[in-house]
Amino acid sequence: MSSIKTTKVKHSKLNEIDFENLGFGSIFSDHMLVCDYKNGAWGQAEIIPFQPMSLMPSAKIFHYGQSIFEGMKAYKDSDANTWLFRPEENFNRLNKSAKRLAIPELPKEVFFEGLKALLKVDNDWIPTTAGSSLYIRPIIFATGEGFHASPADGYRFLIATAPSGPYFSGKVSVLIEEKYSRSANGGVGYAKAGGNYAGQFYPTQLAIERGYNQVIWTDDNTHEYIEEAGAMNIFIRIDDTLITGPTSDRILDGVTRKSIIDIAKSEGIAVEVRKFTVSEVIDASNNGSLKEMFGAGTAAVISPISSFGFRDQDYDLPELEKSYASLLKEKVTSIQTNTADDPFGWRFKV
Ligand code: COI
Repeated sequence: MSSIKTTKVKHSKLNEIDFENLGFGSIFSDHMLVCDYKNGAWGQAEIIPFQPMSLMPSAKIFHYGQSIFEGMKAYKDSDANTWLFRPEENFNRLNKSAKRLAIPELPKEVFFEGLKALLKVDNDWIPTTAGSSLYIRPIIFATGEGFHASPADGYRFLIATAPSGPYFSGKVSVLIEEKYSRSANGGVGYAKAGGNYAGQFYPTQLAIERGYNQVIWTDDNTHEYIEEAGAMNIFIRIDDTLITGPTSDRILDGVTRKSIIDIAKSEGIAVEVRKFTVSEVIDASNNGSLKEMFGAGTAAVISPISSFGFRDQDYDLPELEKSYASLLKEKVTSIQTNTADDPFGWRFKV
């Protein structure tokens, strides 16, 4: 792709940002990348100031939710090098999601050349404060118009970025959900479709009203198997074995999830990728063998769960001095931030 046309902001907002108190995903960098699909082809990508967009009320995104996204992070090391973590995985998953939502697949060079150019223009927005990074949000949504329930004829690929700190603060307690489902066989659970997340908001609100922070999703058919933790994959530790469910139609193939599996194995931790049930977790909690439970995803990296509720009972997780969660989080973030060797070849220099 030829060099990307770039229109810079007249006045950068950078000096107004308190990099010590970023929060998560609520402050946006100066620029964004946009690339439109029309007349059957993706056009030229462009970098423009982060700004509102004008769409017709008949754009299909508003009616049928034809929209997908990715979550990635950029890190800056002490030599001011910029790094991404396994970006190819995000690109491949974006197109996997695109296929499932009948969105035209995005050419690889639009994604990579666009992302690299955007990270160059907004390089000063990448935080260097501990625990922070530049959260990257690639999205594709239907701009094509019509009330007919069929795929749109126009789309926009956009990348916006947000300097961000931790996703969660404080302890996380979760409620095992038995009524609502996140996904079903043959559905879109494996795709990063916007609607997958919207569908979680109401059950999560109900859990919050009961004093929990998040919902643990069980399988839609029997509600006996534990599948995901809120918007993250889930891991449990029984005695010294780390367990996570296999990916499926219903479970997102998380980049953090698969990295943790590989790191844990390389650390000599026994890992089982298998289905596990609510009753197995409750039995393990009752007999003291349930040591840990944590969510894993790009935004939160690893988020330890301190207690879980099932029906009308709450179960506390022990507070461990040396948890797998903290070991694995340290290992994965030190690869991401270039403060440790990368034996897996996951780091990608921008
Ligand atoms: C991520 O972990 O990056 C995700 O995409 C989940 C999101 C809802 C914060």
